[in-house]
Amino acid sequence: MEVIISDTKESASRAAAQVVARLVREKPDAVLGLATGSTPLPLYQELVRMHREEGLDFSRVTTFNLDEYIGLPRDHEQSYHSFMWENLFSQINIDPVRVHIPDGMTDDVPGFCAAYESKIREAGGIDLQILGIGSDGHIGFNEPGSSFASRTRIKTLTQRTVEDNARFFGGRGEDVPRHCITMGIGTIMDARVNLLLAFGGNKADAIAASVEGPVAAIVPASILQHHPNAKVFVDEAAASKLKLSSYYRWVYDRKPDWQKNA
Ligand code: GLP
Repeated sequence: MEVIISDTKESASRAAAQVVARLVREKPDAVLGLATGSTPLPLYQELVRMHREEGLDFSRVTTFNLDEYIGLPRDHEQSYHSFMWENLFSQINIDPVRVHIPDGMTDDVPGFCAAYESKIREAGGIDLQILGIGSDGHIGFNEPGSSFASRTRIKTLTQRTVEDNARFFGGRGEDVPRHCITMGIGTIMDARVNLLLAFGGNKADAIAASVEGPVAAIVPASILQHHPNAKVFVDEAAASKLKLSSYYRWVYDRKPDWQKNA
């Protein structure tokens, strides 16, 4: 795991966007795994800026989103489908045919999940997966206790995640769906590169447990310690409980530029 601590979420997001952009320039038909939530928003804004100002070309890029709420129609304002089109896809030259987001209205959840896994395989696997993290350490919607071998499937949200996400539903926890479809931890671990972003003090415990704690299913993101190419982009607040923070800064400050975006 490589930990990159930035002063602000904006500078952390710019650094993460450089990694994404480098991949897309080197491999124009790259397969990206995408995340929702408030965390990746500045990263998506930076990718939009790079598309507009630097001609970053997404026309051959394929995307797979991590997760979606079950029971929300695509056009619901809080569906992850709406989120992705509003915050990224409508502002870049992505081919809609290459966009994949779990269908929260499917009437065959197991069949849909198996087909989603097949589509990822047929696309050649995910080159780079973007991840946020829940305050309980979840990635995608893989809540604590999720099997490290899990694939795309239905999950039940924890009470804590329902409460965390109530802010998107006008503060009404009762309106937050209880179930979702999420890529599994095994699916995420198959991505060639994983970029985990976390900002703010309410993520500090989850980041410390994931980066420096024991690898355990109770902290799903801790499995990334076993990933061969996982980068963790954090701001000062999210990094505040890391024991080795000065070492991570020391390492990053001494890296050659070419390696920073690799
Ligand atoms: C949701 C999403 C996750 C996301 C997490 C954190 O539950 N399923 O993919 O990482 O919340 O959200 P936020 O970035 O808004 O803190």
